[in-house]
Amino acid sequence: MTDRYAVFGNPIGHSKSPRIHALFAAQTGQDISYQAVLAEKDGFAAAVGAFIAAGEGPARGANVTLPFKEEAFRLATRRTARAEAAGAVNTLSFEQDVMIGDNTDGAGLVRDLKHNLGCDPAGRRILLLGAGGAARGVILPLLLERPAELLIANRTEETAARLALEFARLPACAGEPRPDGTGFAGLAGRQFDLVINATSAGLSGASLPLPPCVFGPRCVAYEMVYGRETAFMAQARGAGARVADGLGMLVEQAAEAFFIWRGVRPRTAPVLAALRSSS
Ligand code: ATR
Repeated sequence: MTDRYAVFGNPIGHSKSPRIHALFAAQTGQDISYQAVLAEKDGFAAAVGAFIAAGEGPARGANVTLPFKEEAFRLATRRTARAEAAGAVNTLSFEQDVMIGDNTDGAGLVRDLKHNLGCDPAGRRILLLGAGGAARGVILPLLLERPAELLIANRTEETAARLALEFARLPACAGEPRPDGTGFAGLAGRQFDLVINATSAGLSGASLPLPPCVFGPRCVAYEMVYGRETAFMAQARGAGARVADGLGMLVEQAAEAFFIWRGVRPRTAPVLAALRSSS
């Protein structure tokens, strides 16, 4: 019997996850099926329940994307420390009577930075733009890499300050660099080695009021959005930064989920290359 997996979202039509996991399965010789499921906005739990109940083989797990990551967090009967810190779940594992919720987004970002981009966060001055769900999901994994500094900057300063304080007080962050929060105005005269855009501005075409000085010498500018050249990417390029989009993070978070489910770590470089050549 083939083990079954799925990704739940709304919308879900353009999800690359089924293709990524099919490539991982072929590469590692794992017998799995992986489908995309469009859940109604108020029907996430029901859709997961229906997926588990129906089908030929046993349902073993699921990925969760927008807008259901917070709901998946609540649905999970057990959660990993990184899911707790993120306040969101993107990977569910179904075992007997428990539903384990994990979050692989931050690990995916860190792995993309370290292994694909040669940009180890250790010792770097990091600027994280945004204080919503996407930013929250990567703070703990970034802090655990021991950057020299992590500054969270957000349009609404208060949200950044609150988020930074929350992580500074988190027991899991004890001994790690203390994150700070600011508004965009607080970036004047500041310089960083790694600037990560976790705002959703790229999706609406909006640009961010960033002083060019934030992109320090040999700076890497990371845009979590993929599939388009955003205003942030253009800004960073103009300031001389090396620019990366979020496609590597997408593939790496999927590889981490695959590893959790199957105990095998797929090679991501050929999958990333396949996605890039067909986009
Ligand atoms: P996500 O889950 O993608 O993080 P979110 O929780 O709605 O989505 O958060 C969106 C983030 O993008 C927020 O940090 C938001 O800033 P505010 O807290 O001030 O709303 C940021 N954002 C969205 N559009 C933006 C824009 N045009 N300029 C600057 N920041 C923007």
